[in-house]
Amino acid sequence: METVAFYTLGCKVNYFETESMKSLFEQHGYRVVNFNKRADVYVINTCTVTHTSDSKSRQMIRRARRRSPDAVIAVTGCYAQVYTEELERMPDIDLITGTRDRLRLPALVEEVRRGGPRVMVTSFEEESCFEDLPFYRDQGRQRAFLKIQDGCSHSCSYCVVPLARGPARSMPPHRVVEEVHRIADMGYKELVLTGVHLGQYGIEGSGITLAGIIKKIEHVPGIRRIRLSSLEPLDFTGELVEAISASSRICSHLHIPLQSGDDEILCWMNRPYNTAEYAFLVARLRNLIPELAVSTDIIVGFPGETEEHHWRSLKFVRKISFSRMHVFKYSSRPGTASCSFKGQVPPEAQNRRSKEMEEVALEMAADYRRSFLGTRQEMLVEKVYDNGEVEGLTEHYLRVKVPVDDLLQNGTGALVQVELLEEDSESDLIHGRLLNNPV
Ligand code: 5AD
Repeated sequence: METVAFYTLGCKVNYFETESMKSLFEQHGYRVVNFNKRADVYVINTCTVTHTSDSKSRQMIRRARRRSPDAVIAVTGCYAQVYTEELERMPDIDLITGTRDRLRLPALVEEVRRGGPRVMVTSFEEESCFEDLPFYRDQGRQRAFLKIQDGCSHSCSYCVVPLARGPARSMPPHRVVEEVHRIADMGYKELVLTGVHLGQYGIEGSGITLAGIIKKIEHVPGIRRIRLSSLEPLDFTGELVEAISASSRICSHLHIPLQSGDDEILCWMNRPYNTAEYAFLVARLRNLIPELAVSTDIIVGFPGETEEHHWRSLKFVRKISFSRMHVFKYSSRPGTASCSFKGQVPPEAQNRRSKEMEEVALEMAADYRRSFLGTRQEMLVEKVYDNGEVEGLTEHYLRVKVPVDDLLQNGTGALVQVELLEEDSESDLIHGRLLNNPV
């Protein structure tokens, strides 16, 4: 039996797509093996959000080639879609496809073996519709990630994603409902809805928005938690806020990318809000959903960012007090507007600003964790370690570790009640104890 190995870089959407591609290869008679093993085919699902993502992608391509000199190496995903020529120059690659035609990937690999074309990237100028990839069970994960939306119709000046993913398009509502039922039947308790710009679900015309989809799926039996992967500030329409706050299944955790805590930088980034509006939104959400975890993405070192801008950004971020914050150093992406902006920030300043932002991120995360000490929470068991410890995630996205109990019999995937006892900044988690049997 032929073997295929996968490596995924980047976001949850990429992760979902890789899992789906695994199922397609299985249907074509392949056996999926670990990326560290020798395989007949390697698929590297790339990311290109920053130049670091590019270089990690290239590194994994080279690694695959070293492992199996005769294998077919297929490169897919955002990097391949946007910077195709750059990858064409890498001799290690046998096949380049972009963010389309995933359903045809096993067939394209066969074609390459018979001497077919090496580059099969199709552009988004043509009619683009949602590529309906089926959900596939990942044995290692206890949460089901489902991509229901692709593409983005915004144009933030720093962002290459619209080039990589094309215009906004969505999975038809009846297909979402079907997939969620299938996921529930597989025994998953937590569903993570993902998309390239999830809040734009349905904008291209089905008439059903994200709020509408939530209402359609939130009562599917078996699904106890629904997590929304990332929402832009302007996605929070009255209807969506109402749907989230009224639902007992939507997790009290929202990821709302801020990108900068300075109004001038936000304007240069072409972000359609200012800090006052952002703060107002968070206050409104916290008012409706007590203890809400609000996490965010922030970019440091955007062109033209001075020490004052950076200082204001730090201050604003502290004021909001995020439960988690992902810090990115600005990376100039060829083809984006900000590429030609004056005042590119030197790497030393970027590194220092990033470190300062990271420190604030750690403090805020620890504060947020501490505010839960002494409380009782529900945890989804994700890992059972050999040393007898059990790790899981609360609806607020708090990672919790408890000593093992007779829980082991039930193992991963169960929802259990825990009491949160001690904050552990080193490991980014809370130590707790089990309160009763799995529910
Ligand atoms: N440079 C640095 N970070 C970026 N991001 C997107 N584009 C860039 C870029 N050019 C970050 C944003 C986004 C996250 C997924 O990646 O913070 O929310």
